[in-house]
Amino acid sequence: MPLLSVENLDVFYGDFHAVHGVTLSVEEGQTVAIIGSNGAGKSTLLQAITGLNTDKRGNVRFAGTHIARMRADLIARQGITMVPEGRRLFGSLTVEDNLLVGGSTDRNGPWTLKAVYDLFPRLGELHRMQASTLSGGQQQMVAIGRALMTNPRLLLCDEISLGLAPKIIGDIYRCFDVIRESGVSIVIIEQNVAQACHASQHIYCLLEGRVSLEGDPRTLSMKDITAAYFGTEHRP
Ligand SMILES: Nc1ncnc2c1ncn2[C@@H]1O[C@H](COP(=O)(O)OP(=O)(O)O)[C@@H](O)[C@H]1O
Ligand SMILES: [Mg+2]
Repeated sequence: MPLLSVENLDVFYGDFHAVHGVTLSVEEGQTVAIIGSNGAGKSTLLQAITGLNTDKRGNVRFAGTHIARMRADLIARQGITMVPEGRRLFGSLTVEDNLLVGGSTDRNGPWTLKAVYDLFPRLGELHRMQASTLSGGQQQMVAIGRALMTNPRLLLCDEISLGLAPKIIGDIYRCFDVIRESGVSIVIIEQNVAQACHASQHIYCLLEGRVSLEGDPRTLSMKDITAAYFGTEHRP
């Protein structure tokens, strides 16, 4: 049984139908990437899984529990945590206090302040700094650390590499191996297709709210992925 399974999910903003019949699954221990251009529905999909978008139809099951109609705070308690696009840190709080916000949930597990500082040693050095004074890459590490402090079973990361320098992106993605080894499954939304293929065992491409392609990135051709991403190929 997959850890997460989404079946025929539709999501609406009033009259606007943003996500159409999306079906996807995440196996335990997997990293799954969702790619697609701006406006394809990637964030809407993640927000629906976490209960932030409530105008939806379809099934979402997490570790066997039906969560599509569950409140966001209860879904979080099941062990799904999102690193939101744009990080959404508390800028006036210190690095450590931001991390402790994640640690205030009642889930136990391997992720403690010490474990986060072991993963991102620079955050240990900066732990008394106000979050707003950090670089973009450091802030992203705080956002990931704060999410880990909830001891999730599934980590959903929305555009974590957007606007960051390639070296920082490499540093962050290397940490994902450690996170996965701790037993956390991961979904990444990534606009960099090469990065998404490199970091994941399965990718889904969204085009105008629909899955236009899915599969193991090692067996998909870049031509097919590009066509599914931009919607340029006429399929039989
Ligand atoms: N709060 C909202 N109200 C109305 N439409 C929205 C809202 N958020 C997103 N949309 C629309 O839903 C579609 C999918 O958006 P989004 O999920 O943010 O795409 P992505 O994350 O792939 O860039 C877009 O057409 C966007 O304009
Ligand atoms: Mg988005």
